[in-house]
Amino acid sequence: MKALFETLEPGARDWQLASAIDASRLPSHVAIIMDGNGRWAGQRSLPRAAGHMAGIDAVRDVVETCARLDLGYLTLYAFSVENWKRPRPEVETLWRLLRIYVGRELPRLMNNNIRLNAIGRWDVLPERAREDLAGAISKTAANTGLQLTLALNYGGRAELADAFNRIAAEMRAAGSDEPIDEDRISRALYTSGMPDPDLLIRTSGEMRISNFLLWQIAYAELYVTDVLWPDFRRRHLLEAIVQYQKRDRRFGGLTRDGKAAEELVGAAAPIE
Ligand code: FPP
Repeated sequence: MKALFETLEPGARDWQLASAIDASRLPSHVAIIMDGNGRWAGQRSLPRAAGHMAGIDAVRDVVETCARLDLGYLTLYAFSVENWKRPRPEVETLWRLLRIYVGRELPRLMNNNIRLNAIGRWDVLPERAREDLAGAISKTAANTGLQLTLALNYGGRAELADAFNRIAAEMRAAGSDEPIDEDRISRALYTSGMPDPDLLIRTSGEMRISNFLLWQIAYAELYVTDVLWPDFRRRHLLEAIVQYQKRDRRFGGLTRDGKAAEELVGAAAPIE
């Protein structure tokens, strides 16, 4: 978190929020449903594209803050499999913005040691968007700091279907009929190798999951804010983390501290 404090003014609101965060209990993975771009634009009598454009400033601010906080993983829901239902010009705007984001932000990603990644069926993206994205993923591949994952043409059910088909193909090839366990499913997901999100943030007040990381958010803490995505900044992210650290995460057990729960279980008299 040292790099974050370097950018904060002592005594200012963001500094107070950052000071309230326990660096030893940061979420290792934050996932965000970025919602409200259209409403933000509508409130200003602007076209929806202007809301998406303004959303890029929020992305930049949040990505840099996560890197300075020393978070491990940030996953952003940028385009769902359902978003193809939007008018074609809006969909094209989103792909244009992706190219703008990747092109403009690459130096900043490199300076902040951020590794770019993408999940979803992004092989069907328009060619130039796909190429720009693949280029940036490869240029940042050796970075060792924050992993920034963009969910593009992503759907949680589609991801599970892809995983099950992959496992079925592997089992057919091996002539195996062994039971499939949770670990095997996790390893077949797009997010294989990443920790599950600890904190899922949704902007603009909607109380929905919208087919995002359905398997992975089993024990995530949910944080919904009324702030529209284009207005979301460092302060809002820090507020979300402060709230997250006040939650009692029990993972189905009884205590805040998982180790203590194990000790309790160990100390209990065996059930005859
Ligand atoms: C939801 O708002 C937002 C999206 C479908 C797209 C998110 C895209 C961006 C933030 C910009 C590009 C991002 C990257 C990473 C390049 P909405 O349009 O559904 O808003 P509404 O619910 O108010 O209509």
